[in-house]
Amino acid sequence: MNVASTPGIAPVQPIADAQTVLSVRHWDDRLFSFRVTRPASFRFRSGEFVMIGLPGENGKPILRAYSIASPFWDEELEFYSIKVQDGPLTSRLQRIGVGDQVIVKTKPTGTLVLDALLPGKRLWMISTGTGVAPFASLMREPETYEKFESVILTQTCRLNSELAYGEDLERRLAEDPLVGEEAAVKFRRYATTTREPSAKMGRITDLMESGKLFEDLGVPPLDPACDRVMICGSMALNLDMKRILEARGFNEGANSKPGEYVVERAFVD
Ligand code: A2P
Repeated sequence: MNVASTPGIAPVQPIADAQTVLSVRHWDDRLFSFRVTRPASFRFRSGEFVMIGLPGENGKPILRAYSIASPFWDEELEFYSIKVQDGPLTSRLQRIGVGDQVIVKTKPTGTLVLDALLPGKRLWMISTGTGVAPFASLMREPETYEKFESVILTQTCRLNSELAYGEDLERRLAEDPLVGEEAAVKFRRYATTTREPSAKMGRITDLMESGKLFEDLGVPPLDPACDRVMICGSMALNLDMKRILEARGFNEGANSKPGEYVVERAFVD
């Protein structure tokens, strides 16, 4: 039956910019990731974010900024999200299933891109919580390994269960057809918890200031001559990291003027 042409029945409005959910994975009761179809001809740089969301009750979409967690070459788009029980978007988004539709706006933007950094030797990707999402993209980006001799991803969370997504990314990196071999030599992940015992504990900022981070990894302390840093976490983490880096002579970069570090807030919290 063609509903749209049946008298008395309102036409079914297609959702603008809708993409179809292909898979959903719940990591714990606070975090989930999902994959959707990729809009035809949609291009982005690894590390960028887009607005995504669901139709609202009044017909106006509820949209939030989400980093794309898949690399630019992937046929699908991946997103990593927190579940906020009374959040306007994530209270509903956490209930999506395969075949459902999610709005994905196709205007990518953001500063956590390789183009915003000057050439360097070692790339640090510093994250807390869902701030790991843009780095999930960049750690699978071939250019990351062309440009840097060494790539270090740090993620700090309160609890062990919040580190599961990053752990899985690291495990799957070894099998990655494009970067697996290079990543095996160049990539390292350094994960810490702050409110539950784990192998490595403490805020990344404290571990930097005490020097323990560099001792553990066997690398020299941060130096603007060779280290490049990307930061994505809470506002508090971002500000503390900026202070630490600027005290060591690092300059903030942007798309228009590359520098020694770049920073972006982890969006969904
Ligand atoms: P802590 O447990 O000591 O607050 P949140 O869940 O609040 O966004 O925090 C995520 C992680 O980031 C937590 O492990 C938290 O540590 C850490 N964190 C919060 N603020 C800062 C900061 N200013 N510098 C470094 N780490 C931080």
